[in-house]
Amino acid sequence: MLIKTKNAWDISENNVTSEKDYFSRRDFIKAAGLIGAGTAASLSMPGSALSQEKLKTLANEFDGRDIQDEQTDARAILNYNNFYEFGMDKDDPAKNSHTLITEPWTVTVDGHCENRGTFSVEDLIDFNNLQERIYRMRCVEAWSMVIPWVGVSLSEIIKKLKPTSNAKYVYFETLVDKKQMPGQNKGIIKWPYREGLRMDEAMNPLTIMAVGLYGETLSNQNGAPLRLVVPWKYGFKGVKSIVKISFVEKEPNSSWMRLAPHEYGFYANVNPKVPHPRWSQASERRIGDFRRRDTLMYNGYGEMVAHLYDGMDLRRNF
Ligand code: MTE
Repeated sequence: MLIKTKNAWDISENNVTSEKDYFSRRDFIKAAGLIGAGTAASLSMPGSALSQEKLKTLANEFDGRDIQDEQTDARAILNYNNFYEFGMDKDDPAKNSHTLITEPWTVTVDGHCENRGTFSVEDLIDFNNLQERIYRMRCVEAWSMVIPWVGVSLSEIIKKLKPTSNAKYVYFETLVDKKQMPGQNKGIIKWPYREGLRMDEAMNPLTIMAVGLYGETLSNQNGAPLRLVVPWKYGFKGVKSIVKISFVEKEPNSSWMRLAPHEYGFYANVNPKVPHPRWSQASERRIGDFRRRDTLMYNGYGEMVAHLYDGMDLRRNF
């Protein structure tokens, strides 16, 4: 069901998905698999050291369609998860997340932007312009996967919300609902699950808001109905089942930073040279593989993102 909200960016009645046409977002997401490369047009990167033209070309290259790595088996992507709102074990989210109700779903937007308010998923995501992005995902626990996501560039959503010049960071929260998310009855972390990005990281063409994977609607255990994907950062930055987006001036305090600030930093860029106190980050186990493989700086996406960290001490800003 579509929730009617007032959008300052004026979606005309004709463009709004009607209840009849809505058919649970599924067919749009299936069709997106066919769109793929070349659709990442009109990408915007304020403050980037790279030219817009160069970034557009790179964004198309980096949609991952030419990735050499084999895509991880869908069964692993759907059954080996971290989503502590549904339990601590890797198979808990698949077993327990059926209690999450993802339709209807609203996202509250506040902070330093012109278009504050409460929006439906359809208001935020252009389901006619979904792209497939095949990305490596590297968890800080030193395992990795290759996932064919379906979604839109986060920059497309941010442009609709019109952040002001005071917005230096964007902050996200997951739903809090102990009935739907039984794991929240345990104080593993201080709920809600929180994450954030610097504005230029959020606007980078690689950063997407995913609504599907393998051409299907996102499953609950993977963060339905919408979750962040930032492929050059450790997987924990990919906050799931988002209900709040805030544009803020100060660096947000993420869930993991609150829990263990000496172990988890704000940036969380994949970096084989900066070990985690409990895991070397030099290598990883690709799910489905027997041998470990070397971990790549920025998870292999340095060409697109290294410039964001020019002059920064990556050991201190881990
Ligand atoms: N988001 C929420 N709300 N809760 C979580 O526990 N876990 C994070 C991230 N997003 C998590 C979350 C971690 S640690 C990882 S590695 C990825 O989700 C895992 O995503 P996946 O289960 O889709 O592979």
